[in-house]
Amino acid sequence: MRIGIPKERRPHECRAAASPATVKKFKELGFDVVVETGAGAGSSMADSEFAAAGATIAADARAALADADIVLKVQRPLAAVEGGPDELSLMKRGAILIGGLSALAHRDQVDAYARAGLTVFALELLPRISRAQAMDILSSQSNIAGYRAVIDAAHEFNRVMPMMMTASGTIPPARVIVLGAGVAGLQAIATARRLGATVTGYDVRPAVKEQVESLGAKFLEVDLQATGNAETAGGYAREMDEDYRRKQEMVLHESLKKQDIAICTALIPGRKAPVLITAAMLADMRPGSVVVDLAVEQGGNCAGSEPGRIVTTANGVRIIGHANVPSRSAEDSTAMYARNLLNFLTPLVDRETKALKINWDDEVVKGCLVTRDGAVVHPGLAAKTG
Ligand code: NAI
Repeated sequence: MRIGIPKERRPHECRAAASPATVKKFKELGFDVVVETGAGAGSSMADSEFAAAGATIAADARAALADADIVLKVQRPLAAVEGGPDELSLMKRGAILIGGLSALAHRDQVDAYARAGLTVFALELLPRISRAQAMDILSSQSNIAGYRAVIDAAHEFNRVMPMMMTASGTIPPARVIVLGAGVAGLQAIATARRLGATVTGYDVRPAVKEQVESLGAKFLEVDLQATGNAETAGGYAREMDEDYRRKQEMVLHESLKKQDIAICTALIPGRKAPVLITAAMLADMRPGSVVVDLAVEQGGNCAGSEPGRIVTTANGVRIIGHANVPSRSAEDSTAMYARNLLNFLTPLVDRETKALKINWDDEVVKGCLVTRDGAVVHPGLAAKTG
């Protein structure tokens, strides 16, 4: 069995789907591994390190993909119209494709996978159950994004984060609010606390209050009673009703007047991100304040945020909309992402025969299998056809 790892070519993407450490493990499992030259360059991983771990270095995407039984990707395959190479056409029929493929948002591409005769696992659809935690690409990458958001905010902020008591005077700690306290938000809270800021956290899911407080932050309460059913069975947030949204707007508006930095991480799976910071709130924030909108690529939590840009409002608030934030700390993101893929693949391999032995009824496999042998099989996707 051969694993192929092409270089990721989408804009802002520095990560790779394998690291020298995972290549070594794949070799031990009995796979051949082919890595396209330069695939690790954006993550400070040289071809020579991949080769030393046992990989063959391919000269281009075609050579990396042509004979691959399993293709590992960070992002969905590139098409010719997107500047190519047309990665799907380079994969052989019957190959298995695994990666973060945004399958729900790119339904047409799922049909293309089926037409290409691929068996495809979209790892963003992995069930959030304990057994799958070590394979959870959303968690590993959100964790890095939450950290990096605070570092990016500190970089743009023209004051310091911790309290400083010096002979030249006392500087108060920066005030940071984190909106949405899932994986990214909790890491942002922890990071801002480590830098010495005074931190407030907010989320619609009431279970989060305790987690926020355990990190030494204050929880911003809007209406704890109304959030009773804010959480789905899968642990995600629901869209809140109009009444709650009005209350949220009032409480948030008041809080933001006193904050220096707001880190936005609120997402609702399969929907546009909720707008939490309005233009009116921005107008009441202090000049020099910084907003980081981690949801910018899903429509944004902050009015006026733009993907890939830092926008300055008329009153001097900077809104950071960096695209692909995990990729900004690519070496660690790649190391974790690659390990997630290794942890996903390992149980699919029969140790004795060294061949794939997939239990198609397994909850983890079923949860993220989108196409199999040329047919769309995921219930969430199949239902949308016809
Ligand atoms: P996410 O990335 O989908 O959303 C980020 C956060 O935004 C969530 O905490 C959500 O409640 C919040 N949010 C949504 N709408 C909001 C609004 N209008 N105002 C304020 N906040 C809003 O969530 P993430 O980080 O992927 O985590 C989702 C859940 O899954 C969490 O409960 C997490 O603990 C759980 N989880 C479970 C895992 C497991 O057991 N394997 C692994 C990772 C996460």
